[in-house]
Amino acid sequence: MVSYKITLLPGDGIGPEVVKAGVKVLNTVAEKFKIEIKYNEKLIGGASYEEFGTPLTEDTLKTCLDSDAVILGAVGGYKWENLEHNLKPEAALLQLRKSLGLWANIRPAKIYSAFADASSLKREVVEGTDFIVFRELTGGIYFGTPRGYDEEKGFNTMIYYKEEVERIARKAFETARNRAGKVHSIDKANVLEVSQFWRKIVHEVHKDFEDVELIDMYVDNAAMQIVRNPKQFDIIVTSNLFGDILSDIAGMITGSLGMLPSASLGSKYALYEPVHGSAPDIAGKGIANPIATIASVAMLFEHTLQVPKAAEIIYQAIERTLKAGYRTKDIMTEGGKEISTEKMTVEIIKSFDEIYHEQGLGVFTL
Ligand code: IPM
Ligand code: MN
Repeated sequence: MVSYKITLLPGDGIGPEVVKAGVKVLNTVAEKFKIEIKYNEKLIGGASYEEFGTPLTEDTLKTCLDSDAVILGAVGGYKWENLEHNLKPEAALLQLRKSLGLWANIRPAKIYSAFADASSLKREVVEGTDFIVFRELTGGIYFGTPRGYDEEKGFNTMIYYKEEVERIARKAFETARNRAGKVHSIDKANVLEVSQFWRKIVHEVHKDFEDVELIDMYVDNAAMQIVRNPKQFDIIVTSNLFGDILSDIAGMITGSLGMLPSASLGSKYALYEPVHGSAPDIAGKGIANPIATIASVAMLFEHTLQVPKAAEIIYQAIERTLKAGYRTKDIMTEGGKEISTEKMTVEIIKSFDEIYHEQGLGVFTL
């Protein structure tokens, strides 16, 4: 039996509740596909700060470096907002991304059709939306130096190296090739040299992918186009800061950030986390929406465990559960049945079992 080591970092707020839900799904599905998972659980973010005075300990980092993948809940909360920069929970996340070399952040924006009415945009605008943001995650202005501020000024450096642009562009083109074959590269080349460089490198990489259509778009226009006509996008590739902003816009049009998964991949490690935050106001009440974390587990099956079939059935199970009318409080719609985090997880697992057997998979042992 194949075996994988996974580090769980539940973190703060609703993090522990949604990670618990994700693990429940992971265990059920892994067993069906004959995969053994060995877990380690560690503190991160505010939870780690409270215990050890730092949001990321050497021990947590070492455990992550010794595993095949990490599942993270969420970090942050009002309680730690006024700490100095490198003690904030968010700093742990940035350090983890950098230390694990997670240069590609993949954020799918896919509408569950059962749910199109929950979007802030009209159903006819959003229905059928299915694109993925490829955000560069370990470079750009997030990490560029010099950086700082004093009495007179504040400054950061937006810098990209050739290799950083090449590898994310390549990944975007490779993925597009197996989808609708279209990549939008988002930059601000009408103003920034770093963007002119980005654009030049993306076009060089494109020479190996001439079957894929490449469209350059300025970031301000892209923000507008995503809400005007999201269906025009297949793959979006962009830098760290632009990707941060655009993936939030992309997330919202799908109805709720509570639904969106993400994968951060590097050459060696992978981290899976919901896009939403720690939602401290509803923590511990058993009402958090576990769908984003469960969908992140689907991404783990796709990218780390290499069982795309399992991922596909998890997505279908989410869709079926929503279609049956089940809703957590945050996504409650008229006529919906409001259920808890735990019940939602159980319903998704039930749907998974049904689909698994309908597809005849239960009959064979894989
Ligand atoms: C995200 C978050 C992080 C980021 C913060 C918490 C540092 O907004 O994952 O998108 O800016 O990358
Ligand atoms: Mn963000």
